[in-house]
Amino acid sequence: MLAIEVDKLFKQYKNGVRALDNLSLKVNCGEIFSLLGPNGAGKSTLINILTTFYKPTSGNVTVLGKNLCKSIFWIRTQISCAAQRVSIDDHLSLMENMLFQSRLYKVDNVTARKRINSLIDSFGLSQYLKYPVASYSGGIKRRLDIAMNMVSMPRILFLDEPTVGMDIASRNAMWKIMQKIRDEFKTTIFLTTHYLEEADALSNTICIMKEGHELVQGTPESLKKYTKQNILRIGFSDKKKTRECAEMFSKANILPSINIRESSIFIDALENQKTFETVNRWLLEKKIPFKAIEIIEPSLEDVFLKLTN
Ligand SMILES: Nc1ncnc2c1ncn2[C@@H]1O[C@H](COP(=O)(O)OP(=O)(O)O)[C@@H](O)[C@H]1O
Ligand SMILES: [Mg+2]
Repeated sequence: MLAIEVDKLFKQYKNGVRALDNLSLKVNCGEIFSLLGPNGAGKSTLINILTTFYKPTSGNVTVLGKNLCKSIFWIRTQISCAAQRVSIDDHLSLMENMLFQSRLYKVDNVTARKRINSLIDSFGLSQYLKYPVASYSGGIKRRLDIAMNMVSMPRILFLDEPTVGMDIASRNAMWKIMQKIRDEFKTTIFLTTHYLEEADALSNTICIMKEGHELVQGTPESLKKYTKQNILRIGFSDKKKTRECAEMFSKANILPSINIRESSIFIDALENQKTFETVNRWLLEKKIPFKAIEIIEPSLEDVFLKLTN
C-alpha cells in the first residue's frame, strides 16, 4: 500500500494564486520522502493539504488507502506534523510538554509514559531533562518538537524544513533521528527541504517540484542518471581565473552551455571523450593554466539546476 498518493492536484487560493497546478506524486510506506523545490514552488501548500489544514481545489488525494476529503478525522489520528514554527510551551518542562501532547492524542497515561521514556532515550534528550525548556538551543527545541510529535506513534510524520538554520552538528544529529524514526518506529517521513545534500543523504525518494507541479520523482541515484550525460569539470587555482576562462569559452563559442561553481567550470559532456579532447586541446593551445580536468557524474545539484533552471 502507498502511504500517500496525489493525483492531478490543484489548489487555487482566494486571491487567485494557483499554488498547486496538476501535481501528482506517490509516497511509499516506511520511506523518507523529500520534497525539493525553490521558494514558492508550493511545498507548504501541499503539506497543508496533506495534513488536512487546507482543502484542495480539485484532484484526488489518498492517505493510507483512504480518500483525504472523506476521511479527514481518521487521517488526523494517523499523522503528525512538525511545522516550521515549533509548538513547544516554554513554561512547561520537557516531560510536561510530552505528556501534554500525549493527552491531545488521547494516549493513556501508562502507554504515554513508556513511549515518552523511550523517545527521550532515542532522541538523546535525557541530558536536557533537568534544564528549563526556555534555555534550549533551537536545535534541541526542534528535536523535542519532533519527539512530541512521535508520542502518538503516527504512521506518517510530516516535517516542514526540519533542519533549516541548524549548525552542522545539530543537523547531523537530526539526520540520525530521522533515520531512527524510519528504521525503528517504521514511520513514513514526508519532509520538505532546501538542502539538496540533505535530500541526497537521507531520502529513499525525492520529488523535485516547481510552479505547483512535479518535475521528476525517483531515488537519488535514478535522479542523478536523469541528466544522462556526464559532466566535464575544469578546476582552476582561484575564482578570477575561472571567470576569465569562462569568458574565453563564451567568446570562442565552442561549447553549448557552461556553469561556474567555486573555482571550477562545469560543462555538459555531450560526447564524453570527444568533449574532453576538444576542451583539453583548446586549453593547451590557449595556454590557459588549469589545475584539473576530469569527467564526473552529475550531482543532485546539477540535476536540480538543470530542471528548475
Ligand atoms: N494563504 C495563502 N493565500 C494566498 N496565496 C498563498 C497562500 N499561501 C501561499 N500562497 C502562494 O502560493 C504559492 C506557493 O507557496 P508555498 O506553498 O508557501 O510555497 P513553498 O512552501 O514551496 O515556498 C506562492 O506563490 C505563495 O505566495
Ligand atoms: Mg514553505
